Amino acid sequence: MVIRNICCIGAGYVGGPTMAVIAYKCSDIKVTVVDVDETRIKAWNDEDISNIPIYEPGLEDIVAEARGRNLFFSTDVEKAIDEAEMIFISVNTPTKTYGLGKGKAADLKYIELCARQIASVAKTDKIVVEKSTLPVRTAEAIKSILDNTGNGVKFQILSNPEFLAEGTAVQDLLNPDRVLIGGEADEDGYVAISALVDVYANWVNREKILTTNVWSSELSKLTANAFLAQRVSSINAMSELCEQTGADVNEVAKAIGMDSRIGSKFLKASVGFGGSCFQKDILNLVYIAKSYGLNEVADYWEQVIKMNDHQKRRFASNIVKTLYNTVSGKKIVFLGWAFKKDTNDTRESAAIYVADDLLNEEANIAVYDPKVSEQKVLADLNYLGTRSSEVNEERVIVSEDPYEACKDAYAVAVLTEWDEFKTYDWRRIYDNMKKPAFVFDGRNILDGEELRRIGFVFKSVGV
Ligand code: UDX
Ligand code: ADP
Repeated sequence: MVIRNICCIGAGYVGGPTMAVIAYKCSDIKVTVVDVDETRIKAWNDEDISNIPIYEPGLEDIVAEARGRNLFFSTDVEKAIDEAEMIFISVNTPTKTYGLGKGKAADLKYIELCARQIASVAKTDKIVVEKSTLPVRTAEAIKSILDNTGNGVKFQILSNPEFLAEGTAVQDLLNPDRVLIGGEADEDGYVAISALVDVYANWVNREKILTTNVWSSELSKLTANAFLAQRVSSINAMSELCEQTGADVNEVAKAIGMDSRIGSKFLKASVGFGGSCFQKDILNLVYIAKSYGLNEVADYWEQVIKMNDHQKRRFASNIVKTLYNTVSGKKIVFLGWAFKKDTNDTRESAAIYVADDLLNEEANIAVYDPKVSEQKVLADLNYLGTRSSEVNEERVIVSEDPYEACKDAYAVAVLTEWDEFKTYDWRRIYDNMKKPAFVFDGRNILDGEELRRIGFVFKSVGV
């Protein structure tokens, strides 16, 4: 079976870049990305390519090349489903905020809606590919909906988890470590799997394309993210011990990272991990383990999240303690709001929680992030519901200029590791701040010695 027409439901951080790269690399396949969010689709279609809704290095060039050729963005979900042989589901699966599994299980309502829509529209056989991160056995639920509400056509469900990291999405998609495809172990399943393998084989070495059963594929995604998050929590746990003992976490990370069994990646101590995946996937894992009565397994993984929450809280309380136990009425600058550099995504960003703690202490916060808007910063804080939006608006300002943001501030806190922060004129920042001037580097990116020479009281994580 040769795929000529792909539809992707969901034009977000996963669907957008993934489909752009598939279209870019497979000029003979028509790829249509659909979304119910009209504003988002309009932005993807904006003539000015710099207005596409997702910031990722290299993405603009890829979209510019493929858009209008074989890459299309549309709100006409039904038409795209009808025309496609293969449908990717890339809708969001947030953690449930209500009912059973609240705060832990994934909310599958958007997935279910998609499945029902596909079932009602499809008049020919379709391969449906789960791309969103999902709890194990979601494929089974999708299949049941499709088979029971469809028009008698055949559906094959594949799991094809996304391993791209934001900020490096385009590179990760162009040169993946591996592509994972899970499907059913029968003849129709093999046909569907090989159809998707052939799509990726347009640019990925076949040896890197792994095929498994559906459940292994689903669980591998959760496991990969749990392991990565666990490394960050492990090094962050050591960072607190380093601060007490006089060890330097950067030196410890380097020393252990050179052990080839451990490896050097994901050992950067920080203010805590964020992003739409790590916490959600671990909570999912915890929920699944508990639902099978595996309480020790659940507790083991839950600790990764608890450590991360502790790290964020510790960073905020350290600021308060250092500023003579009060930040009330003091201006504190946040350099960075995104959950990591090179993305405009702020989901679960540590900055949000650190800001929330400092606002509880009545601090005034000035935020500068090269890619995040004022509207987004306020929406993130309002979403927590800790205080009224009026108070958030009063207390938080978002500045377009980092030097302006730092004027008359008592402290600067680095929340995201944007490269540009390293190249600032820190002497100029120092001269315009209240004294003593404090810098809290939550990402260990600044030159502490140089900053101390200028006159700052400088604190980083784990040193
Ligand atoms: C992650 C996985 O890496 C990716 O494979 C999966 O598809 C989606 O989830 P993402 O969340 O986009 O990707 O970014 P990632 O680079 O994994 O970083 C996650 C968080 O951990 C960020 O807040 C980052 O700053 C933090 N982090 C990462 C650290 O604090 N220290 C590190 O050493 C590495
Ligand atoms: P992710 O990081 O998983 O890509 P996003 O929130 O960035 O998550 O993107 C998911 C997209 O899916 C959103 O733009 C949302 O509007 C879209 N979406 C959710 N449900 C549906 C649906 N039933 N039909 C079409 N689009 C949907």
